[in-house]
Amino acid sequence: MSKRNISVTINGSVYTRQVEPRLSLSDFLRGEQNLHGTHIGCEHGVCGACSILLDGVPIRACLMLAVQADGQELTTVEGLSQDDGTPGLLQDAFQDAHGMQCGYCTPGMLISAQALLADNNDPSLDEIKDAIGGNLCRCTGYVQIIEAIQLAATRLREAG
Ligand code: FES
Ligand code: FES
Repeated sequence: MSKRNISVTINGSVYTRQVEPRLSLSDFLRGEQNLHGTHIGCEHGVCGACSILLDGVPIRACLMLAVQADGQELTTVEGLSQDDGTPGLLQDAFQDAHGMQCGYCTPGMLISAQALLADNNDPSLDEIKDAIGGNLCRCTGYVQIIEAIQLAATRLREAG
């Protein structure tokens, strides 16, 4: 099948690429864009490791085709860093609160937390649990992950 042209905004930059129609968005991001922060776990929409933001909404990149992203705006975990490449506020909070063990789930957790905090900088415990409810941590580090999101929320409020 012939390749298709797509134009997609990723972390603020526009890319025009030719892709196979059956290429998944997760494989596109990792294989064509070298954005390896988007992890692949189950490839069935279950684990959340491949979560990215599509126009600000968390989605599973393994369940979407690259051609479906044509004309859309995507944010991967790399886009949560500061402009100089140093960790952003949320990433710093995960580090300071020990919100990761092996780190495999971490990009997806960060993306889900980012979406939550973009709308709500004072989330309740239940709201945090709900926001990351679709992200599985096989190391079971949920307590520290929740504390990291609470720390990020506190810092966001302090920053005004
Ligand atoms: S790899 Fe996409 S949800 Fe698991
Ligand atoms: S830190 Fe290992 S899977 Fe979550």
